[in-house]
Amino acid sequence: MKHTHLIVLICVCFFSCKKNKTVSCNDANPLHEEAEFKIGAAIDLSSYYASIAYRNTADRQFNSFTAENAFKPNALHPDLNHFEFALADSFSLACARGDKRLHGHTLLWHSALPNWILNYQGNEKEWQNLFKQHIQTIVSHFKGRVKAWDVVNEAFNEDGTLRKSIWLEKLGTAYIEKAFEYAHEADADALLFYNDYGLEFNPEKRVAVLSYLNNMRSRGVQVDGIGLQLHISLSYPDISQINEALQEISAYHYQVHLSEVDISINPLNQTNLNKEKLFEQQAQLAAKLVLAYKQLPNDQQYGITFWGFSDAYSWIPTYYGREDYPLLYTGDFQPKPMYCKLKETL
Ligand code: G3I
Repeated sequence: MKHTHLIVLICVCFFSCKKNKTVSCNDANPLHEEAEFKIGAAIDLSSYYASIAYRNTADRQFNSFTAENAFKPNALHPDLNHFEFALADSFSLACARGDKRLHGHTLLWHSALPNWILNYQGNEKEWQNLFKQHIQTIVSHFKGRVKAWDVVNEAFNEDGTLRKSIWLEKLGTAYIEKAFEYAHEADADALLFYNDYGLEFNPEKRVAVLSYLNNMRSRGVQVDGIGLQLHISLSYPDISQINEALQEISAYHYQVHLSEVDISINPLNQTNLNKEKLFEQQAQLAAKLVLAYKQLPNDQQYGITFWGFSDAYSWIPTYYGREDYPLLYTGDFQPKPMYCKLKETL
């Protein structure tokens, strides 16, 4: 073979191999198999049961599920003496059959509350009973099935004060601590998390949360981990802030859950998006996030959960009324560059 022919052959092989590498990013192999920690998704139960494509993708790609709404107080506790477990039970069964870790979200929140709680007229003792019964009935019911609970969600304001809520108003500032105690009494094997947004970029809020939880722990109350929701965007926060938060929180030996990850590509609600370019930036940021998470000690890596997986089902476009594509899959369940980049990085 002539020398020039050999060079041409090498070049052809080089470029076709590179091309093959790109083409080989498909989702035939599960994403979770790439990771040494759990990779989860929030699941919208109506879609899970209504769409085969949705369910197949969820079942195949993730090994930890959080119900997006079905374990919230308004879903599970629709009336004073009535708990509604049928839908959540069927999901728990699907998790057990599919070998998925089930993460319970959430026992207490200022939002997703049934009206009857907001309107409840009771004295101090009755409020305490209601609070305890709410937590313990739910946690006992799912004992052995829910691996971990977000016991309290979003209880702090940005300035580090406690957020106004019915629980704060009726039970006082110790309600968070009480909630963890009651949850632990109901299922001593469940891991118990505090979950919030903004902890990754707001040191004031982070310090307040840490000092409340550390204080509880110093008095023997079990709190296993902290969930950082991480609804982030291409423009904010900076990865260095996220790194700093992860290091600071893990230094206190909490398990760390990146609990509701999505990456908005259009936080300023612009038109004529250059999706190809933005998807690439989204993939790069997701990779940095994963690398930051991988720095944590293995036994503190509870896992990374995405808040959904297909752009068509994300809460962001509806909630903010804008075009956005914050998740791993397109609306028709094709893996995006972010998915492909995670395959390389996890
Ligand atoms: O199911 C009803 C449906 O029957 C009705 O027709 C429709 C009309 O509005 O509402 C449907 O319920 C909506 C539900 O999502 C299911 O789509 C609720 O109105 C809506 O408030 C609810 O929003 C959820 C929100 O939490 C409030 O609970 C979002 O899906 C969910 O993604 C969002 O998740 C929160 C986390 O729990 C905590 N962190 C922030 C995160 C994003 O806001």
